[in-house]
Amino acid sequence: MGRDVIIACDFDCKEKVFSFLDQFTGKKPFVKIGMELFYAEGPEIVRELKKRGHKIFLDLKLHDIPNTVKKSMAVLSRLDVDMCNLHAAGTVRMMEAAIEGLTREDGTRPLLIAVTQLTSTDEESMKRDLWIDQPIDKVVMHYAENAKKAGLDGVVCSPLEAEKVHAVCGKSFLTVTPGVRFADGDIGDQKRVMTPAEAKKIGSDYIVVGRPITAAADPVAAYERCLNEFVD
Ligand code: C5P
Repeated sequence: MGRDVIIACDFDCKEKVFSFLDQFTGKKPFVKIGMELFYAEGPEIVRELKKRGHKIFLDLKLHDIPNTVKKSMAVLSRLDVDMCNLHAAGTVRMMEAAIEGLTREDGTRPLLIAVTQLTSTDEESMKRDLWIDQPIDKVVMHYAENAKKAGLDGVVCSPLEAEKVHAVCGKSFLTVTPGVRFADGDIGDQKRVMTPAEAKKIGSDYIVVGRPITAAADPVAAYERCLNEFVD
């Protein structure tokens, strides 16, 4: 899979997802399904979107004991998602177990991406609540290296971290970056943002775009604009 735009389908029920995607006649965007939609609709939403021809990033951010993560990843692998994720904080052993669970008998598996530190966690809350005293950028890079060591394919990170992740973990280690906004768009609650063109320049492999597409007056045109800036 090459560079692509992933639409964050942050809707609370399948009807809203389908009426949103029905606008994309003839196109099958790569979509992200998060916890809200998955918990509301269950695995059937994944099967239905796969049947309709979409690639799927299932964003459930697993974090549990290695055995539980391994068995849960085996279930997600059978659902035939294209990309899924977990928290690197679950340790290298947990990430290795996830790869084991995800790998099918024929050796294939969905891409597996690690969340390093959530962007909602800042250095102060890391120190105060988690008792992690290292600077946050060092923690992010250490977790990215752990993910690589465990055999994962990449990390979710801010577009501003993508270059450094590639420098530390290699160019082929994937960076999946949310926090994307058009130059003339509303940034909303995102703090550190980049345009699709800038994300391309710094080497992001996938951008995850939600509201700039889902809340646009013309979502298909907004999606095309992302593709033009980021992929072409
Ligand atoms: O609407 P917006 O483009 O801000 O959506 C971004 C998507 O990426 C949302 O689904 C959000 O939960 C997700 N995300 C994020 N920042 C992270 C991790 C995930 O915005 N650090």
